Amino acid sequence: MKVLVIGSGGREHAIVDAIAESSKVTKIFAAPGNGGIAEHAELVSIQADDVPILTEFAKNQRIDLTFVGPELPLSKGLVDVFHKNRLPVVGPSAHQARLESSKSFAKQFFKSNNIPTGEFIECSTPGEAYGVIETTKWPVVIKADGLAAGKGVVIAEDADQARSTIQQFMESKTLGEAGSKVVIEEYLEGQEASFHVFADGTDYQPMVAAQDHKRRFDGDEGPNTGGMGAYSADTILSPEQHSAVFSRIIEPTLKAAKSYAGVLYAGLMLTSRGPKLLEYNARFGDPETQVVLSRLKTSLIDVLQDIVEHRLAARNLEWRRDPAATVVLVAAGYPGKVESGKQIFGLDEAKRIEGVKVYHAGTRREGGRIYTAGGRVLNVTARGATLAEALERAYFVAEMIEFDGKDYRKDIGKKGLAGER
Ligand SMILES: Nc1ncnc2c1ncn2[C@@H]1O[C@H](COP(=O)(O)OP(=O)(O)O)[C@@H](O)[C@H]1O
Ligand SMILES: [Mg+2]
Repeated sequence: MKVLVIGSGGREHAIVDAIAESSKVTKIFAAPGNGGIAEHAELVSIQADDVPILTEFAKNQRIDLTFVGPELPLSKGLVDVFHKNRLPVVGPSAHQARLESSKSFAKQFFKSNNIPTGEFIECSTPGEAYGVIETTKWPVVIKADGLAAGKGVVIAEDADQARSTIQQFMESKTLGEAGSKVVIEEYLEGQEASFHVFADGTDYQPMVAAQDHKRRFDGDEGPNTGGMGAYSADTILSPEQHSAVFSRIIEPTLKAAKSYAGVLYAGLMLTSRGPKLLEYNARFGDPETQVVLSRLKTSLIDVLQDIVEHRLAARNLEWRRDPAATVVLVAAGYPGKVESGKQIFGLDEAKRIEGVKVYHAGTRREGGRIYTAGGRVLNVTARGATLAEALERAYFVAEMIEFDGKDYRKDIGKKGLAGER
């Protein structure tokens, strides 16, 4: 079977790696892929959101299954076009992906389906938004309506910060059209959790929970990033929280978002009044995928085929009990401007360490050597009998790999360790 994976991050490397394990799969293409993905897949230089060219490619190559990693091609209707061309694809339609691509659409959807979420007001003009912050409690959360690659949410501590955020998003248009509308949302307190499900349009299968580390520096300080690390362990959600997530959030969503197929990712805040939904993503999280898939025993390609053939209900997903952790190695300057092209050393040695996989994010392969090519460079992912062991392994390898300007957070999974004791 011939598979096409769309995307170029650590998430897509983990997906390609899991797909490559199956003997059914004879060929994997990745568009555009990265230096690590190149080990298992043939890289095709088509941008992840170039829907017409990707469609042509899948037709010409007679691809048996396409998996869409990032949100942009989903929001641009890649899945709709593939369906029209009878090309088997895993992912939601552009309309379904609005759960991610429009915060105001999503919040209205949560409200009309009684899904627990923070109180909010939608503002279409700067005037409305400035008006709302005159009477709000602090802090307050300001969210750009459209896709903003993780840069569209600000937790404003006071009126000055709120005003300047509204000015930037809505008047200076620093995020382009994504910021022309905003949602102003109640600030919720608690631990965050990421919860993914596979859905086939009728049925769904839950995945194991994970926790992301969004802030750049230890102790959750500094700016938000695409994700500095993650862990997955069965202790992230209590049994009560787990059942509340199913009955109050996931099930009403899939019932209302008729025929949603693909991966649905719920960003949760575990508040003292139960889990509340911060947002949905219409695809896998990055770096959560790296830890979640490393615990999946069932062959990923089998699950993806179940989705395409609408027979997920009969599937019994098997998971490893072992926790997993991933530490993201970043280039100096991230999440700001970074310098690329630094040679990476130690990757071959890392391959020999048991229980560890190094997924590539921003890398490039040239003449047998690997170079940095982005802010988030590598994701060192490890499993262990305990979370402590998984973290020990991941940090051992994080230390071992070298490139000029390498940095990483030293406290990934720390909150999870407290739960393990
Ligand atoms: N209502 C809220 N209360 C507290 N923190 C929030 C709230 N909404 C979002 N956040 C914080 O902001 C981050 C980004 O918000 P999210 O809605 O996930 O948007 P996106 O991932 O599209 O940037 C969340 O991971 C969370 O840390
Ligand atoms: Mg988010």
